Amino acid sequence: MAKTIIVSNRLPLKVQKKDTGITFETSEGGLATGLGSVYKQGDNLWIGWPGLWLEEEQDQEYVRTELLKENMQPVFLTETEIKEYYEGFSNETLWPLFHYFSQYAVYEQQLWEAYLAVNRKFCTEVMKFAQSEDTIWVHDYQLLLLPQLLREQLPGANIGFFQHIPFPSFEIFRLLPWRRRIIQGLLGADLIGFHTYDDMRHFLSSANRLLGYGNLHGLVDTGKRAVLVDAFPMGIDYEKYAALAVDPETIKLEQDFRQAIGTQRVIVSIDRLDYSKGIPNRLHAFELFLKRYPEFQEKVSLVMIVVPSRDTVEKYKRLKEEIDELVGRINSSYRTISWNPIQYFYRSFPLPEISAFYRLADVCLVTPMRDGMNLVSKEFIASKYDQKGVLILSEMAGAAQELADAIQINPNNIDRMADAIYEALSLPEQEQIAQMSAMQTLIKTYDIHQWVKVFMDRLSYVKIKQQSFT
Ligand code: G6P
Repeated sequence: MAKTIIVSNRLPLKVQKKDTGITFETSEGGLATGLGSVYKQGDNLWIGWPGLWLEEEQDQEYVRTELLKENMQPVFLTETEIKEYYEGFSNETLWPLFHYFSQYAVYEQQLWEAYLAVNRKFCTEVMKFAQSEDTIWVHDYQLLLLPQLLREQLPGANIGFFQHIPFPSFEIFRLLPWRRRIIQGLLGADLIGFHTYDDMRHFLSSANRLLGYGNLHGLVDTGKRAVLVDAFPMGIDYEKYAALAVDPETIKLEQDFRQAIGTQRVIVSIDRLDYSKGIPNRLHAFELFLKRYPEFQEKVSLVMIVVPSRDTVEKYKRLKEEIDELVGRINSSYRTISWNPIQYFYRSFPLPEISAFYRLADVCLVTPMRDGMNLVSKEFIASKYDQKGVLILSEMAGAAQELADAIQINPNNIDRMADAIYEALSLPEQEQIAQMSAMQTLIKTYDIHQWVKVFMDRLSYVKIKQQSFT
């Protein structure tokens, strides 16, 4: 029987090697939940990197056996591969370039070669399990070459690809020395999905400018095979967040937080440590807000959670220092004996605590310079059980195209961002409820389960479409 194989750089779990042995922690991420209904069935599989370097054969075997029980297969990366493929080409070339931080991107032949080699390694691993009638769904920018590598081995397979980060405009993408290879790599798929129509349009324009391929309503004619390109805005597990927000444990946590923080109003922000998230600009805007509206001093706190990420990459280390310094400066300038303007946490929190923060917050501040989608904005909305609260959202996030009822800002416009904070804190309750309820209806309908279903249905449909096209 035909099976479905999911492939992503990271497996949906955290494996750690401790003194007491190897531990496994399942991921609570939206993608893991959404795809759970797929990879946990029958012979289906999820193939990816377990996220750590395991040198000993014996450790690798143990991890392999344990993961197989959960329908997962590990791809082990060596220390050099982690450095050159993961930290290097994925996160120092593609990540900055695709997020329009082209000045941060490094172009090194050695990193490209490592990227190609690791994409081949993933292909070899998939080929140990895949058969020609199978469906293979590849995820994200770390594996852009994999669809074509798989196609060479399995001409008849049903191959889907989804990109979770933006696809930049051609004028940015063309800076990449290996741009044609990337487009060719992706066109090995039958269906290529992006979060937004803009990303889709950018990809189609690159395919046209670099390879001369035209398209009809997103159906690209490669001469050999038609490839469908479409937009699939990713959702969250709405019911999970909505239920968690009214769970007695969350309510108790919120009460504890409230007691600690006093009567102040709360603005919350939650991101991975990343320069694409616009954290320094957000801090500048909050500082300007305090200065411009002094009546809010001692009346509002920014609870800022920054989750450690990619801290071996130089640019991330430097960003961490910049944030530490800014928070320190703002807090020391404005704080009083009983009030801290910014409550800054550099760590991750368990989901019930995150939910309690969302409950507590009057405003959620989401200000990326560029973001494929941004799921925090959707999680905040799903957690607002009483529909009171305001979302301030960067227009550079994919989510802004759906969440028209949020207060939208340009993250480079610090002046306007400061006013948006004031506006959000002053918005009448009736308006908050009207906006929130409209956004809730939308993201409840297009949740993560719907997203998986629509993508998989489209992948089956494209095979039929291909027959009529040739
Ligand atoms: C983004 C990417 C994912 C990635 C995640 C965490 O959401 O789209 O592919 O897994 O960040 O980054 P990391 O480098 O820790 O896997």
